[in-house]
Amino acid sequence: MQAIIKVGEGKVALKTVEVPKPGPGQVLVKIFAAAQNPSDWMKLKRGWGEGEGLIVGHDFAGVIQQLGPNVSESTRSSRQIGQRVAGFVNGCMTPENGGSFTEYCVADETMLIDLPDDMSFESASTIGFAAFTACQALWQNQTLPTPFDVTKNPFPILVWSGASAVGQYAVQLAKQSGLQVITTASPRNHELLKKLGADAVFDYRDNEVVSKITTFCGDNELNVAIDCASNDESISLIAQCIGDRKESYIALVLPVEVKAKHIRSDFTYVYTLLGKPTRDKYNYPAIPEHYELGKWCAGLLSHLAKQGALSTVPIRVVPNGLADAQYWIKYQEEGKVRAEKIVYRVRSS
Ligand SMILES: NC(=O)c1ccc[n+]([C@@H]2O[C@H](COP(=O)([O-])OP(=O)(O)OC[C@H]3O[C@@H](n4cnc5c(N)ncnc54)[C@H](OP(=O)(O)O)[C@@H]3O)[C@@H](O)[C@H]2O)c1
Repeated sequence: MQAIIKVGEGKVALKTVEVPKPGPGQVLVKIFAAAQNPSDWMKLKRGWGEGEGLIVGHDFAGVIQQLGPNVSESTRSSRQIGQRVAGFVNGCMTPENGGSFTEYCVADETMLIDLPDDMSFESASTIGFAAFTACQALWQNQTLPTPFDVTKNPFPILVWSGASAVGQYAVQLAKQSGLQVITTASPRNHELLKKLGADAVFDYRDNEVVSKITTFCGDNELNVAIDCASNDESISLIAQCIGDRKESYIALVLPVEVKAKHIRSDFTYVYTLLGKPTRDKYNYPAIPEHYELGKWCAGLLSHLAKQGALSTVPIRVVPNGLADAQYWIKYQEEGKVRAEKIVYRVRSS
């Protein structure tokens, strides 16, 4: 199969490699579309993976081509050849993990999102990495309502950087859990976020963003935030919105320090949902509770997709498919991807 391979620091090339074989608990997915993430350039640049020769890419959508040894119709989801699915892999990390910028990948059958027939593979390819990250930020280290257990007493949650892919999924999942969703984004993305269910959207560059958010909350105490930017500025502004409240929490998508020590915070790492040691600089062991959460998230996202209740991130399907991956990876590294996903059409459906 043709695959985008790491050939040097920040460098990739299209090469021919072996089609992987699904192991126990895995399926082989025939990929129709693959979406790009910031982690693609980060892993290529920062040397997180085992080195050159690894397949790049995390997000995929396609059909099940082959079942691994013990994957049968008796498993949770009755996996069958031909099922339309989406998900993510820990790409560009180890040869066993593989990557998604290619024609086939192996994936854990319990971590797949089942796709309705009317969702295109291109749109579905945007779900895996970002939506699982949003789920993890919402539910791994705090007890919040869920779309299966909607609260009757809405309280505010702040999703910073709501137009990011992670943010778009966090906004809609929080809203569907019954929460009052406050988010921040550039003005051109405010309508998009309102359509996803945000109750209020503010410009994160506005000098008065903190006072506008606290005024909007009024007597409703803001105790919970998800920071999809996770930089020093976003952390500081969120901390100001929370003020001196105890029992408050910020979920971070990058490992930055929260200086306000009365605020509990965690960096959540989406790969731990896959239930395997990460074998990277963070060196997480397999964490069974995270794996259980990952499987629950796959069920939730499949349910919402089936109900037509999951809005996928706007897509830009790039003209030459994987052949131009080097260009689009660099484009994302330069911060030019805004409120959309770069999507590679791998084959026509
Ligand atoms: N921990 C994990 O496991 C994990 C998993 C996935 C992603 N991540 C990380 O999460 C972050 C978001 O990922 P993503 O894929 O959602 O990103 P993305 O879609 O590429 O994010 C693009 C958006 O970021 C917003 N943005 C850019 N600079 C900003 C700033 N200074 N403050 C606030 N927002 C800003 C922009 O919003 P506007 O257009 O509105 O300006 C832009 O639309 C990345 O850093 C990624 O590496 C972590």
